[in-house]
Order: sequence, then C-alpha cells, then structure tokens
Amino acid sequence: MEEQKLRELFHRLSVHDKIAQTIQLNGDLFVESGVMNTGPAKDLGFQKEPNFYEIGSIYNVNDHQKLYQIQKDVLENSSHKIPLLFMSDIVYGFRTIFPMPLAQAGSYDFDLIQQAAEISAKESYLNGIHVVFSPMLDLVRDPRWGRVMESPGEDVYTSKEFAKRVVTGYQGEKADYLQENHVAACIKHFAAYGAPEGGREYQQVELSNQKLFNEYLQPYEAAVEANCELVMTAFNLLNGVPSTGNKWLNREILRERFGFNGVLVSDYAAVQELVSHGFAKDEQDAAKKALEAGVDFDMMTAVYANALPELAKDRAFAELLDEAVWRILILKNKLGLFEQPFRGLTEPNTGEVLTDEAKEVATKLVEKSCVLLKNETALPLKKTKDQRIAVIGPYAESHFTLGFWASVSGRSSDVLTLKAGLLEQFGQDQLLFSRGFNLYEDYSSFGPLKAGFEQLNGPIEDEEFLLEQSLEQAKKADVILLTIGENFLESGEGASKTNLRLPEKQIRLIKKLAELKKPIVGLLYTGRPLVLTEVESYFDSLLLVWFPGVMGGRGICNLLVGEASPSARLTMTFPRSEGQIPIYSAQTSTGRPLGENAHSERFVSKYIDETNEPLFSFGSGKSYADFEGTWQGVEEKTDGIHCCYEIVNQSEREAWVTPQIYLLNHPAEIVRPMKRLIATQHLLLAAKERKVVTFTLSKEEFTYFDNEGARHLTSGNYTLQLDLLGIKNNQTFHLVKGE
Ligand code: NOJ
Repeated sequence: MEEQKLRELFHRLSVHDKIAQTIQLNGDLFVESGVMNTGPAKDLGFQKEPNFYEIGSIYNVNDHQKLYQIQKDVLENSSHKIPLLFMSDIVYGFRTIFPMPLAQAGSYDFDLIQQAAEISAKESYLNGIHVVFSPMLDLVRDPRWGRVMESPGEDVYTSKEFAKRVVTGYQGEKADYLQENHVAACIKHFAAYGAPEGGREYQQVELSNQKLFNEYLQPYEAAVEANCELVMTAFNLLNGVPSTGNKWLNREILRERFGFNGVLVSDYAAVQELVSHGFAKDEQDAAKKALEAGVDFDMMTAVYANALPELAKDRAFAELLDEAVWRILILKNKLGLFEQPFRGLTEPNTGEVLTDEAKEVATKLVEKSCVLLKNETALPLKKTKDQRIAVIGPYAESHFTLGFWASVSGRSSDVLTLKAGLLEQFGQDQLLFSRGFNLYEDYSSFGPLKAGFEQLNGPIEDEEFLLEQSLEQAKKADVILLTIGENFLESGEGASKTNLRLPEKQIRLIKKLAELKKPIVGLLYTGRPLVLTEVESYFDSLLLVWFPGVMGGRGICNLLVGEASPSARLTMTFPRSEGQIPIYSAQTSTGRPLGENAHSERFVSKYIDETNEPLFSFGSGKSYADFEGTWQGVEEKTDGIHCCYEIVNQSEREAWVTPQIYLLNHPAEIVRPMKRLIATQHLLLAAKERKVVTFTLSKEEFTYFDNEGARHLTSGNYTLQLDLLGIKNNQTFHLVKGE
C-alpha cells in the first residue's frame, strides 16, 4: 500500500485500535493446542477483554489451515481489516530441521548457512509465517546456561558472520527482499541475555561498557546492518536495568547508534516482569517504562492493553504509542499484508516442505557441523564386509535428536535416525545394536505426549540388563560405536545446569566397554559443551554431533565412513571442569600469567586444583586430511590489510578445511584479548592440492571501543596468526595509519 494510504488508515485508528495493534498473543487463544508456551501460566488479566480480531500479532501457530482460518476471521470481523502478523519460534528450520545453531556456526560455511536459512524461510512462508524469532545472537561463554545451543557461540567474528548470513537468508537480497519465500527476521535477545551470572536462566547480567561495545553488542549490530526488521528484548537486567525497560539500550544504542528503525518486540511477559524485577512499581509504570524504552509489541501480557488507555491521555505517551503503531503498520505493509493478507497460504496447501533439495542441504550441514574432537586410528570406519560394529547407546534409534526449539514446528517422525544412516552404509549382519542405557528416567512428565514418546523412544528398561546386553554385543564386534550425551530436554530455555558431566550410568558404561580393549568411537549428542575430562581417554575417536536435525543419521554416517571429511571447528570451549567457567578463547592476559618466571610459582594466575587449559579449546576440530599453511605476506594498503598465505593438502584425500586467522594481543588503552578471531576461509582442497589464498582485512578489525563507546585505532606492530587445525603460524606487520 502506498505510504499515503497507510497514513490515512493510521489516522482513522482510535486510541483503542492503536493499543490493540501493540498486543501480541500466543496463538492458543485462537486454536486449541499445539502452541509452545515459554512463560507463566496464561491468565492474562485483561481488564477489558480485547477484541482478539483487532490485535496486532499472534505467534507459534504453525498450522497452515489454522492460520488461513484465523486471517479470514480477522478480515471478516475487524473494523479496519488490518491483517494479523504471524510470528513463530522457527530457530533452525520449519520442517527441515537443520543442526542447531551452535553446531551450524562451527561449519564456517556461511554460504551453506545462508542456504539453510533460505530453506527455513521458504518453508515458513509457505505455511503462512511472516516473522521468525531468530537468529538468536547472544554471545555465550557459559555452558551451564541451557540456551547456548541456539547461539552461534562465544566468538564475536563468528557470531557477526552468522548474523548477517542468516538474516539475509531469511529476508532475501535486494531483488527479492521480503518477497515470496522470504520472512522477516526478529533477532534476539537484546541485549547480552547470554551472559547470566552463574549461568542461571533469567539471571542478571553485569558487563562493562567496553565489553558490550567490543563484544556482546557486535552480533546484534551486524544483524541491524544486514537490515533485520525486528528485534526482541531480553529478560535480563543489564547493569542493573532490565533490558525491556532500558531506554539507553533500546533508544540510544539500538535505534540511534545502530540505526535500527524496525519493530521492537518484548520477550514473553517481559514488560510485566519489569515489576517482578523491582524496576517498575506496578503494571502502569511497567507499560510507561517499556513504551519509553521503545518497545512496540507487548508479548503475552495485558500490561499495554490495560495501562495504555490511561497513559495515552498524556500527549507525550500518545506520541510514543503512535510511533510504535506506525512501526508495526510499516512492517505489515513491507510484508505486503494489506494486498496479500494470506501471504504464502494457498488453499489447498501446496507448499512443499522437506524437499530433496532441502534434505541435501541439511545433510551437508550435518557433515560440516560435526566436530571431530579426537581420532587415534578408528575413523574413518572400514567398510570391509567382515567388519562388525557394536552400535551401543539410545541415540541410534532415537528420533529425539532435533533439540529443544524444533518441537515448535518440526516432527520427530521426520528424523532419519543413526540406525537408518548406518544401514545405508553397512549390511544388517555387520551391525549389532543395543540401547546401553535409558535416555529418559521415565516418561510420566510428558503428560498427554507420553504414549507417542514411549513409542518413538522405546520402553524404559532395567539399566543393569541394558549394560549387560551391550557388553555381550560389544564382545562380538571389532569396533564399538557408542552414542552418549544429553537428552533434548536437558538444553534449551529453562535448562541451566551446574553439573556438566555425563550421568553416572553413561560413565559406567564407557568404562566397562573400555575393559574389552576394543576401539571405541564416541558420538556425542548434546546441546552444550559438556565436561568430558573423566571419560575422554577411553575413546579412540570422539565425534561431536550436537543435535543434528532431521538428516543427522545420514550426515553422521557419511563422516563415519569417510565419504566426507570432518571440517567443523568448535565455536564454544569445552572446559575441563565446571570451576573453570567462564573459559573462552578471547581472554585477556593477567599481569601474572602462568608460565612466565617473574613470580614464584604460587603467585601466578592459576588454580591449585586444575589447569588453566580447557579440555577442547575454541577452534578445535580435526580432519581426516593433513594441511600445511605458510604466510606469503601481509601488507597495509589504502583499502585495508592485504594478506596472502599458501595452503597445501598433504593427504591423499579431498577435504574441506577452515583456516582461522587470529589477531594477537597488542598494547591499547583498553586491554585487548590475547587472541581474537578476525577471519576464516572455507576451502575445498583436492588430494595434494596447493592453493594460494588472498584476502583483505578491513582496518575496522584492528579497532576497539573504550568505555564511552568511542572507537580507536592504534598504529604499531600487529601479529596475525594462521591456525590450521591447531598448527599455528605467525606473521607480524606494521600498521602505519592509526590514530
Ligand atoms: C521466550 C524466549 O526467550 C524467546 O526466545 C521466544 O522467542 C519467546 N519465548 C516466544 O516463544
């Protein structure tokens, strides 16, 4: 609709109509069930029941038929016929569920990540969704927090690249921006929700400004630069002020500094929670503070609906309300909803999901996101006919390998299991399956879903029996393929943990199997880094498969047999023990670093009961191939720093590899991390191939922010480190044109 027409419509709206537009409700007010609730029980307490056909948006109804009917009812029953905006928690796939984001990011194949986002957008679009609540861009450095699975990890560079490519994949490029097969991206959670104290869900966050500007805010800013249309606020206090009521954060930083002019959605009930935080004295005050902070949509509370009629009598607040509603209408208009309220919804539903092409992309992404943490000799597995493999552990047959958010729109029955994948590669007589342990203690907490769960996961059995059975199978085999890890409910929202070790029964199984002295290949299913120190040495090989999505079984098996070579790198550090947390790559040096001799051994920065090193550091990840890299030159030119290195594949196999370029510490007014990732390349090298790689780094990469948010660039010597699967090569150059 032309802007003039939209203005006319806007001017026809009463205050009451306008307030209704700022309400976002969970779709279960329209449909009976099937909606994911992530907040308090839903007695919303509307003082005056709103006309649900007049509200601005609903979310998490992912059923084509239902959305069609709801939109039809809205258009028939609302006075201004403003279409409803449909949002949803599509985080890493609609029906084609891809590996979870923390896994995807480790592929460093940003083209493929973008392709996956395009597929998610298309499937969402074809099912009537207009806005997806992702990507989640909270930097995470504490694996106790359950939501690390949704994030691209601990690193700024990785998160920024991920942010840009996922947003573009969802929304499209210039030519097809928000058009057919695309949806608007709602990035979240602004800001710094990924750094809760103690890793405890919803807990407060304390971060200095320089840490915010240099690190935590960077991925969100990258998404704003990529034009994300929406931002979701965070639940947490940030330096004492709740994000949802934080005017400085949402107006000064997000809107003014970053230039965001899209729609700001509160997280679930976060406006109301301003009262629980002790920041607002009552709901009236909460509405006032959220509106002042620039929150346009009140998700899932009646606070705006109850408070704004009174508040908007004041001219200043009426103007703020107008601003919010105008932004919402602009978004609806950008999406073309006034012309096409049934956007993407065809009758009957002809939208194809889980196409062969989508499955192929998903399979590739599995191959590229599983991290080979360890490999002595067992991988790739031999495919000779006499080779017998004991496949032990409950994940082989489990369909619950999609991870927490996939349950919004994905289906466990779509999963190609590990067992199915193995049967594509090996004869039935070569594989000896046994469950090993129960993945769930009981199914009673699943309520009405209990029967389905039990059917797909198998009945709970006696642990002792399962252990004995798997030992028997293992005795008959040449190699043991052992699946271990978390069940999917152990990570995701509301799943903080203090103990990151495997459950005792899994540890016991590993140790018992090790007594058989056969090579054990571990497959680790998890939503977060775990503490594996006690068990790591029992494995010949360890492949981290995360929650791999619908094509997990096939992608993992392609890696196991060597049809693909592992190339993923960890985007989050695996600690040796929980006491080391937070432990991450981009740490600063202390004045008394361990390993330097200036101080007596006692008075240096260390633990007396643990090393300073993690078990698997950020960037870890092995390959079946060997590579060597040498710098050819680094030079400052007017358009940036020109870099060149040569890489050789010394092995006899073709393989993907991700060289990483780190910037090492250099003196600055704000102490910089000892090392910081600033570039990666994702390369395919044929057997014995040699390649010269050139790239240009922007000078921005060498800048930093102070506590006031001002940017600095210092002249001097800088060292770049080329890290090729842990083999490091340094190159120093002089940057002349600093401040
Ligand atoms: C709460 C979560 O924090 C957020 O990520 C999600 O999008 C909303 N609930 C809606 O389900």
